[in-house]
Amino acid sequence: MARAKIQFICQNCGAASPRWQGRCEACGEWNTLVEESATGGIGGGPAKSAGGKRGRIVELQPLSGGSADAPRIPSGIAELDRVTGGGFVRGSALLVGGDPGIGKSTLLLQASAALAAQGQRVVYISGEEAVAQVRLRAERMGVANMPVALAAETSVEDILATLQAGPVPALVIIDSIQTLWTELAESAPGTVSQVRASAQAMIRYAKHSGATVVLVGHVTKDGQIAGPRVVEHMVDAVLYFEGEGGHHFRILRAVKNRFGATDEIGVFEMTGSGLREVPNPSELFLGERNAASPGAAVFAGMEGTRPVLVEIQALVSPSPLGTPRRAVVGWDSGRLAMVIAVLESHCGIKLGPNDVYLAVAGGLKIAEPAADLAVAAALVSSLSGIALPADCVYFGEVSLSGAVRPVSQASQRLKEAQKLGFARAVLPLASIDKDASVVPGLQGIDQLAALVATIAASGTRPERRAVPDQAERRRSAVADEALDS
Ligand code: TYD
Ligand code: MG
Repeated sequence: MARAKIQFICQNCGAASPRWQGRCEACGEWNTLVEESATGGIGGGPAKSAGGKRGRIVELQPLSGGSADAPRIPSGIAELDRVTGGGFVRGSALLVGGDPGIGKSTLLLQASAALAAQGQRVVYISGEEAVAQVRLRAERMGVANMPVALAAETSVEDILATLQAGPVPALVIIDSIQTLWTELAESAPGTVSQVRASAQAMIRYAKHSGATVVLVGHVTKDGQIAGPRVVEHMVDAVLYFEGEGGHHFRILRAVKNRFGATDEIGVFEMTGSGLREVPNPSELFLGERNAASPGAAVFAGMEGTRPVLVEIQALVSPSPLGTPRRAVVGWDSGRLAMVIAVLESHCGIKLGPNDVYLAVAGGLKIAEPAADLAVAAALVSSLSGIALPADCVYFGEVSLSGAVRPVSQASQRLKEAQKLGFARAVLPLASIDKDASVVPGLQGIDQLAALVATIAASGTRPERRAVPDQAERRRSAVADEALDS
């Protein structure tokens, strides 16, 4: 009998090390190595039996043949189904991550109720809240009469025995994976070995039974699923539920999906009685718009297959600091620095001594380079004090040479803009095709300088106050200087 091998497992990334070290060599985190036994098949590979057991012969199959789509169960919540790619896939495992309090339990209870309403068997295992607490939430959401089977349990062995005793459920929710513990792992609950072994057991159950298993995971501040990043690699799909503090909007995003696209988002609004679906996010994100204020530009973006219009807000103001501040919410700060550099070197705009703040309204996070043009428009507008036309959208990618490059799906973006009453668009010249004419006032540009010239020429300055205050005087002096060139 081999001696139990001792290993030190990083609680952050799951890397194993034969000896203790202060810093994990794999992920660089400090003080994360914990002694764990490597027997029992946890991370140590399959246990080798003394007799050298002969493997079972598996059936090999041709590559061609039945390719029927994975059987799916739509939840009936359209925004959720959009992100999963059309519903829960039978026999698959999903991880739903998000900050504590963002609404993961609410979302999954709602999905459970919706499935149960279709007559599907749904089991909801709560490891964090007592049955009474879950019932209270269900009452608040108005779904308390749905036939969801509920248990407050954290032992994997007990959960599996319970599941195997009844008919196979369509959906099993484990809320949360961090509370589970299994006898297969010797370390304390909450350690990476426990989370990994528990997740492994639940995923194996999903594959064998055909039930969909959803694991809930809490995320740490830096966006990682706390501790068990390993679980992300084990499951078929990873969904993140996110939102900005102070906003009611919640966005469900797929970061991994073996059965569908990963660029779709689902938009929800947290209300007093659960999550409400937001089928038209543009209306929501533009809802709080304060049109005709300098520094605001509407970006016609795409999230997956869906066009989303959102306001980009910039504030450029003289900096009291030696090194001006650049702060961004909802966009990439490196990309902002690039747009600023292009404005300075190719368009004669002097942002240098100013603080620059940039925010995407509504708590949305944008990853598309197509937002460059809208960001540039918002920056120039704020610097010059000239409000952009309220009925105009902007999109286009800016290259380091100052050229405006075409972006994909221009006609879809324009259709959405037209639907929401926008009559003008500034877009890459090369993106204008026969479908683009849904918006009457198209202005195609191929250089960023053309955008600056347009804003200077056609924009309207807001009514000047009789006695401009100091800040306004300074701003307009800067604007005149910047736009004269
Ligand atoms: P919850 O689903 O418990 O978050 P998580 O499981 O991600 O930790 O949601 C908690 C928050 O949502 C809490 O602050 C209360 C709020 N909430 C509502 O505003 N309306 C509701 O109907 C429900 C159930 C919760
Ligand atoms: Mg919860």
